[in-house]
Amino acid sequence: MRVLFGKWMNSLPTFGALAAFGGLCAVVGGFWYYATPKYWRVGYMPIQPGTGFNHQLHAGKLGIDCRYCHTNVETSPEANIPSVSTCYGCHAETHVSSQIVPDAKVQFVRDAYAKNDSIEWRRVHKVPDYVRNFPHNVHINAGVSCFSCHGQIMGMPIVAQTQPMSMGWCLDCHREMGVNPQNRIVPQDKVTSLHEVQQHFTLLAGGKAGESPFKGFDASKVVEALKLAPPENCGACHY
Ligand code: HEC
Ligand code: HEC
Ligand code: HEC
Ligand code: HEC
Ligand code: HEC
Repeated sequence: MRVLFGKWMNSLPTFGALAAFGGLCAVVGGFWYYATPKYWRVGYMPIQPGTGFNHQLHAGKLGIDCRYCHTNVETSPEANIPSVSTCYGCHAETHVSSQIVPDAKVQFVRDAYAKNDSIEWRRVHKVPDYVRNFPHNVHINAGVSCFSCHGQIMGMPIVAQTQPMSMGWCLDCHREMGVNPQNRIVPQDKVTSLHEVQQHFTLLAGGKAGESPFKGFDASKVVEALKLAPPENCGACHY
């Protein structure tokens, strides 16, 4: 797939041409299968193992910062999923009381920990393989909030996809950076404060920037200071 796309991308960027180039319906079929699966449709919400993991409770109500679990988002392209030991740190038999969390609800965490197993969380967001590794760190450090791409995670008992994550969706934001970044960039130290970010964007849309928790924040200054220039060339995102 990778080699096929590499050549195709450089020379013949249309589906008709792809068919001619690949010459095999099976390849095209495989491509369509990978290009339109259920993973990256808006609303996709797979059933998670055990009793699941509730972001509304942990990130919303308890206020645990995203980076407590997704430890690498600022430093690496990959936003890692935490290991069982992160959960066990709170859900060991002797920690959070069984009056607060019934033992049965977190037994799957303890079982996995005891057996040194991982929990097989099901992937929600996934760009196709012919897209390069999506760089979380670059976006976070530019002041793009998780909210812009994942929606109000702090209100989700079960994570679902809220954005199309299509090529047009990526490029819309990249192109708008030089025009109107105010709807896309927030103060860098607030990227994980999703309730404030949502409030900020809602107030901006309603023409009430003066009431925003980030009152006085000027995104174009950030774009200027950090010289933000998101790529639009094919090679930046494709092999
Ligand atoms: C206590 C740990 C913990 C905290 C805090 C946490 N997460 Fe998660 N997150 C997880 C686990 C475990 C999963 C995998 C299970 C799932 O998808 O629900 C996950 C999954 C996700 C996913 C879906 C990943 C995929 O498969 O595509 C997103 C997006 C996400 N988290 C964003 C956030 C954001 C944004 C915050 C902060 C507001 C946050 N998380 C806080 C543990 C955490
Ligand atoms: C910082 C401590 C902390 C961490 C880390 C943590 N939890 Fe929790 N968890 C809690 C507390 C406290 C509650 C009870 C909250 C309440 O009911 O108000 C809870 C509740 C739960 C529940 C029962 C509520 C429900 O969803 O039905 C489950 C299941 C659970 N956690 C799973 C996990 C998993 C899986 C992880 C790791 C990805 C994890 N927790 C990480 C503190 C933590
Ligand atoms: C500019 C958009 C964007 C922003 C901002 C963003 N993400 Fe993502 N996130 C994505 C995309 C796209 C994927 C799928 C990546 C892939 O398939 O390689 C993803 C995947 C994930 C995953 C799944 C990773 C895995 O390996 O299972 C987690 C967890 C996640 N993001 C958490 C976060 C958190 C936490 C934040 C904020 C601190 C955040 N993301 C900010 C676009 C974004
Ligand atoms: C809400 C706005 C937004 C969205 C959505 C978005 N980006 Fe970006 N992207 C940015 C900004 C801002 C930068 C930072 C540019 C810089 O640092 O110069 C960036 C930079 C990048 C870079 C350059 C990385 C580097 O090393 O310089 C790549 C590649 C990229 N984005 C890919 C994607 C892909 C793929 C998607 C869709 C899945 C996406 N982006 C969605 C705003 C966005
Ligand atoms: C900012 C990142 C980015 C840039 C720049 C980019 N693409 Fe894409 N492209 C994507 C993503 C993400 C997808 C996957 C879309 C999906 O999952 O639906 C994609 C998908 C595609 C597809 C598959 C059909 C489709 O639309 O889903 C083609 C063809 C394609 N890109 C060609 C190009 C060409 C040609 C260029 C240069 C003019 C280019 N791309 C530049 C991110 C990018």
